[in-house]
Amino acid sequence: MEKKLKVGLIGLGGICRIAHMPGYKDFDNVEIVAICDILPEKIESFKEQFSIENVAEFTDYKELLDSCDLDFIDICTPNYLHSIIAVEALNKGINVFCEKPDAVSVEEALKMKEAAEKSGKKLMVMRNNRYRADARYLKKFIEDGKMGEIYCGRCGWQRRRGIPGKGGWFTTKEQSGGGPLIDLGVHMIDLAIWLMGNPTPVSVSGCTYAKFADNDVSDSVNSSFGDKKSEGTFDVEDLAMGFIKFDNGACLQIEFSWASNIEKETYIST
Ligand SMILES: NC(=O)c1ccc[n+]([C@@H]2O[C@H](COP(=O)([O-])OP(=O)(O)OC[C@H]3O[C@@H](n4cnc5c(N)ncnc54)[C@H](O)[C@@H]3O)[C@@H](O)[C@H]2O)c1
Repeated sequence: MEKKLKVGLIGLGGICRIAHMPGYKDFDNVEIVAICDILPEKIESFKEQFSIENVAEFTDYKELLDSCDLDFIDICTPNYLHSIIAVEALNKGINVFCEKPDAVSVEEALKMKEAAEKSGKKLMVMRNNRYRADARYLKKFIEDGKMGEIYCGRCGWQRRRGIPGKGGWFTTKEQSGGGPLIDLGVHMIDLAIWLMGNPTPVSVSGCTYAKFADNDVSDSVNSSFGDKKSEGTFDVEDLAMGFIKFDNGACLQIEFSWASNIEKETYIST
């Protein structure tokens, strides 16, 4: 029988429940052996939601890393913890699968890369959009030369009213690293640059705005991510627009918003 991969889940919130757990259920060779969330009530509701028994439970990820025999961990915590947990796990010889964004700064991302190289373990940060059927088709289409030279692109994800977890970690720069640029931009900028053949950026310019901190209207299903906190912090942007130039002369226009005065939510990578 094929060996089962033992996984420890860290951060049992929205994305772990909506995407990761349903994904693991499709694989016979993955076994959830440990779960961790800083909030005990999340552990309880998670076990109930997925009918999980016989699993080690932790409220401290360090204890999970120290006491379980794991093939890999899956990090679904707030952004600022990605690099911290990943580096500790890699240093202990555990493979890491981590949600996007990689980290909240370039320095933190480089620490992850270094720890992976030093340990020889695998580090994969979520790039789920590259695995979409349309993205894979387009990548092959481009690689087969059917699009000719890709010399400019435009990408974005503009929500009309869709701020996630307002007042909580998503809108607190220290914990999220920023607003829609790091949250949504990380998906679409990655996808666009990948489709363009991975040119190296040589300059970036842009503007950010924060105009919706006092607006509680939501018309996006995506605003249900993260726990809201009344009277919480909102010190990130809600709109980011910019322009990236690459070493091969190509350019990419970008626009990401959690809230902006547009007719409806749009999502592009062209
Ligand atoms: N790939 C995607 O499309 C996608 C979509 C949504 C979110 N995400 C990413 O997934 C991550 C989680 O987002 P979410 O929407 O699930 O947020 P969430 O707030 O719903 O879940 C985060 C969970 O982490 C727990 N947590 C906080 N500190 C912890 C700690 N020290 N140890 C263990 N658990 C801790 C929280 O209690 C919470 O249950 C974020 O990095 C986000 O950017 C990715």
